[in-house]
Amino acid sequence: MEKGRGQWASNIGFILAAAGSAVGLGNIWKFPRVAFENGGSAFLLVYIVIVILIGATVMITEFAVGRNAHKNGVGAVRDINKKFSFIGGLGILTGFIILSYYSHVGGWVVKYCVAYLTGAGAVYEDPTNFFLVDVLGMGTSFPIQGAIIYPLIFIGLTAFIVIRGVSDGIEKLNKIMMPSLFVILFILFIRGITIEGGAEGLGYLLKPDFSKVNGSMILAALGQAFFSLSLGMGIMCTYGSYLNKEENLVRNTFTICGLDTLVAFLAGFAMIPIAFATNIEVGQGAGFAFISLAGAFQSMPLGTVFGFLFYVLLFFAALTSSISLLEGTVAFITEEWHWDRKKACIVLPVIMFLIGILYTSSQACLDIKGIWLDANGISYPIFADFMEYLTDKLIMPLCALLYCILVGWIWGVDKASDEISSQGLYAFKLKGVYGILVKFVAPAAIILIMLSGLGFIG
Ligand code: ALA
Repeated sequence: MEKGRGQWASNIGFILAAAGSAVGLGNIWKFPRVAFENGGSAFLLVYIVIVILIGATVMITEFAVGRNAHKNGVGAVRDINKKFSFIGGLGILTGFIILSYYSHVGGWVVKYCVAYLTGAGAVYEDPTNFFLVDVLGMGTSFPIQGAIIYPLIFIGLTAFIVIRGVSDGIEKLNKIMMPSLFVILFILFIRGITIEGGAEGLGYLLKPDFSKVNGSMILAALGQAFFSLSLGMGIMCTYGSYLNKEENLVRNTFTICGLDTLVAFLAGFAMIPIAFATNIEVGQGAGFAFISLAGAFQSMPLGTVFGFLFYVLLFFAALTSSISLLEGTVAFITEEWHWDRKKACIVLPVIMFLIGILYTSSQACLDIKGIWLDANGISYPIFADFMEYLTDKLIMPLCALLYCILVGWIWGVDKASDEISSQGLYAFKLKGVYGILVKFVAPAAIILIMLSGLGFIG
């Protein structure tokens, strides 16, 4: 291992950091509405199966590649096969693009925390107006709050933590924020399942309707699982590279996947009943958390307190994920390009923040288009959709697919299993199953996500 390289101080620190990376906006902001739109409880069951079979397979594969080399995403892949180092590069690129917009959404969350802390009067007056005008700058010449002030605060905090290093910055923060996140989520979960008028929402999540299971729902679950588990973003490989050889990768992987899924489910059980009880619409993309729920808190007893807790929860989840996204890129730049950590932690966030300005301002204020080739030819989506499209539907699954091919077919299941079992220290009883999943099942499933994402099927 390179001298002076970061290392987790403890296995629990690693688990909390990796779970912190996984638990993010994807679980709390996105999961409840994706679950709702795709059949509620039937979606939940399909999601669990996918996390166990495919999510856990890709995650343990990334951990094994990272820990095998104790190097950044590119260096770790190069150690297995030089010609494939670009796969590591794809992961870093995905993390870079995701953080460019994630930092802006994180900034909006900070704005909502401040708004609820000060009584939420401005939100309650007109939740739609608050989000579209105050945050996204609709009808103004520029969204100064949503694109500059609050994203700067959020990315500044992210950089501040990552500058301090793996165990002193990332691990310490997660040790505080993750348990706090669970406490807040539990409070909101109890509120959700006991709210008057929420029974219909609970029923929607508890009574499986298998007629809702179809191709597009399975693909939605796959895409959601990848994003939520932070796969194909160069993160888990980097986090795995800071782990010592004696830790049990199988147990850690199941714990992290389990925690991430638990948070997503608790968030669903907290929010869907609240939505039913207050008669708000669950769909609407970003608007669900930032418009519908924001307004719903007004009609609940102690609603502003619960609203504040909800946005603090989102903030904790977003920050522990954004530091992992930055760490993946910083590890690459410091180890491959030999930049000083401080310089990397300042220059990279500044570039990401600047790209993110296009993301926020393209949503409601400025007409900035992306360009994309879909099944029907060239289309020009707004820049924000283009960025998410590029990462969620293309580079991220492509990176995970190539990872599986590299490990399953080139490095080989035997060598990967040696790393997974800590060179035989732990019995890897699932080796045979893992071989089938990493060589066949996961690649096939990922190809399906991509074909559907590009509009060729489904
Ligand atoms: N895994 C992170 C999330 O769910 C990126 O938001």
